[in-house]
Amino acid sequence: MVSRQATDAPDARLSSRATSVERSSIRLMFDLAQESDRDDLVHLEIGEPDFDTPDHIIAAASDAATAGKTHYTSNAGLLELREAIADDMAQDGVTVDPRSEILVTTGAMEALHLAMLTVVYPGDDVVVPTPLWPNYRTQVKLADATPVEVPLPPEKGFELDPDPIIDAMSDETAAVVLTSPSNPTGRVYERDAVTDVVKAAVEHDTYVIADEVYKGLVYGDQPTGIAGYVDASDHVLTVSSCSKTYAMTGWRLGWLAGPTAIVEAATKLHESTTACAPSISQHAAIAALTGPQGDVESMHEAFRKRRNYVIDRLDEIPGVSCATPEGAFYAFVDVSSLDASSLEIAKELLYEWGVVTTPGSGFGSVGEGFLRLSFANGLERLEVGLDRFEAFVREGGVK
Ligand SMILES: Cc1ncc(COP(=O)(O)O)c(C=O)c1O
Repeated sequence: MVSRQATDAPDARLSSRATSVERSSIRLMFDLAQESDRDDLVHLEIGEPDFDTPDHIIAAASDAATAGKTHYTSNAGLLELREAIADDMAQDGVTVDPRSEILVTTGAMEALHLAMLTVVYPGDDVVVPTPLWPNYRTQVKLADATPVEVPLPPEKGFELDPDPIIDAMSDETAAVVLTSPSNPTGRVYERDAVTDVVKAAVEHDTYVIADEVYKGLVYGDQPTGIAGYVDASDHVLTVSSCSKTYAMTGWRLGWLAGPTAIVEAATKLHESTTACAPSISQHAAIAALTGPQGDVESMHEAFRKRRNYVIDRLDEIPGVSCATPEGAFYAFVDVSSLDASSLEIAKELLYEWGVVTTPGSGFGSVGEGFLRLSFANGLERLEVGLDRFEAFVREGGVK
């Protein structure tokens, strides 16, 4: 039992859970940027598409609202939406029953949180390859478990190395989180490496939580749909959302797909947290998944151009390097030659050069020496940002 004395709450009676949560450095940089009096900042810290949601999706939501579809839905979400999600997953080679194996959630964030609460016992471990998206750490702690960060090899661009991950698994391991494409590295994990991790999860009778929120933003032909890689779908909990693929971050619409027993249990937890995902957003998601995909293709193409531009520019800057992102919209840049911490570099870039970035240290210890640059910004702003970044590096970095 956690004692009340353990909490350190001068102004209010806060729980140990509330006080154990750390703010991410993504948020820190966002807040520092908000406080800045510069009006020419270039935002390369952004974690969401800069595009607006396509018109036909907004029209579907508007029609739903006008038609009075403004009530609670079933806890699991509209069946029509679950069918659309199942069809979408089938295109990734994953077969799920929309009636019993899908829960519609308030963004992927809720799906991840529920997945952890459903399969993690207090005191368990959750293995997370790192650099990691920092929210996992918090979600694991909120489930009274311990995040076990396993460093991926920086010299190989943080590709998925299954061996240390498998070595980190034990009888206490409740789950392993795999994020492909990855935030912050943009890596799309090799099928064989992922398969090894899934097989190990089966041997340990544990779960792989496959976070595939960036699955719509893959630049090569690597497959997504981890649950379809091997015949072990009972051990894979797939999490995804409309946020990144359809530029729908604010609609808060995601899903959890997995074996019936897990989805049913997660649905019970969901009943007491949000009851159901917003009804209007569910109608918007049906339009997103089943409607025309032209806007998605245009956004994808724009991200590809930006990625190529960012990588070409970084290649020309002496002393920094970056593995080419294979998915998502982040470049994870090695700035270790600059002789300052990634937070010092990010602050200097913000205050002296007007470029907002995210320090790699915010993505786990192995991220120190790196900077995450988001290319969810137009080419013109990327050019200004990279001109400034290049000048900063050529002038010797932090003064
Ligand atoms: C790796 C990863 N997973 C999940 C999420 C959350 O997505 P959603 O907006 O659907 O909650 C994010 C958002 O940035 C993310 O980067």
